[in-house]
Amino acid sequence: MNYGFIGLGNMATAIITGMYKSGAFKDDVIYGHNRSKEKMELAAKNFGVVCLENNGEVVKKSDYVFLAVKPQFLNDVKDEIIKNWDDKKTLVTIVTGKDFTFYRNVFGDIPVVRVIPNINAKVQASLTAICANEKGQEHLPLIKQIFETTGSVMDISENYLGAFNSIAGASPAFAYLYIDALARAGLKNGLPKKLALEVAAKAVMGSCKLVLVSGEHPMALVDQVTSPGGTTIEGIQTLQRLGFESAVHQAIDAVIAKDEKIRKG
Ligand SMILES: NC(=O)c1ccc[n+]([C@@H]2O[C@H](COP(=O)([O-])OP(=O)(O)OC[C@H]3O[C@@H](n4cnc5c(N)ncnc54)[C@H](OP(=O)(O)O)[C@@H]3O)[C@@H](O)[C@H]2O)c1
Repeated sequence: MNYGFIGLGNMATAIITGMYKSGAFKDDVIYGHNRSKEKMELAAKNFGVVCLENNGEVVKKSDYVFLAVKPQFLNDVKDEIIKNWDDKKTLVTIVTGKDFTFYRNVFGDIPVVRVIPNINAKVQASLTAICANEKGQEHLPLIKQIFETTGSVMDISENYLGAFNSIAGASPAFAYLYIDALARAGLKNGLPKKLALEVAAKAVMGSCKLVLVSGEHPMALVDQVTSPGGTTIEGIQTLQRLGFESAVHQAIDAVIAKDEKIRKG
């Protein structure tokens, strides 16, 4: 099978890394093109990606065309896709905020699989959502297999993708912000920054694991950490007083609003 990537940025590299590390696609060919040359050189050197002179060549050679540019650059690549398309090809898009109606309007009635991975795909820890239009359904098992090399994959209906993306796609950035804030608070209280960062990241990682493995409600776990008259409850009350939960809700609402704006615009 031939896979082609239009754009070899962060997410494309994470997907290709997963495919490469899994060994499951070693008999296949991965083609790619990127606007800047350096990323093509890296993809060729690190993963054996066959980098071609333009996106049109990538489309021509590929059974599955992965669209991995930012939404604002779709206009730059659409003509190269249209000109080199044939009815044996399937479009796999990781572009957020563009729905099946958009792809139908631009490319016609072609098989499209929409995939929303997140940046933790870089360490094979993405939670990825996937859905296909009618013609794309038969391609879902293979595309799922590809994205399972970057973490776990869940089927989701298209109308949930915006909300899914705002939580699974954007929240890693919120989590990094939280981890960094914890680490800087550690630094302020005398821990070396590197150690503080490791402590913060591992504490958060362990907490995620406990939520998932125990199946207990997060607030029940909060109760288990807070002893009467203890220290943790002081911190929790401070966070709540400063609007922690409300800030998280407003951040997610802002992501959803922007997603909506991109989808309509
Ligand atoms: N990052 C996330 O967490 C995440 C999560 C879910 C979905 N997504 C979606 O994934 C897509 C890619 O995101 P990303 O984070 O990987 O962005 P990125 O790192 O900026 O990668 C996009 C790549 O596209 C290249 N590019 C731009 N115009 C091009 C053209 N005309 N032909 C070929 N390559 C071109 C860019 O090249 P240059 O090197 O020249 O800039 C860049 O390397 C976006 O649509 C985003 O919505 C991202």
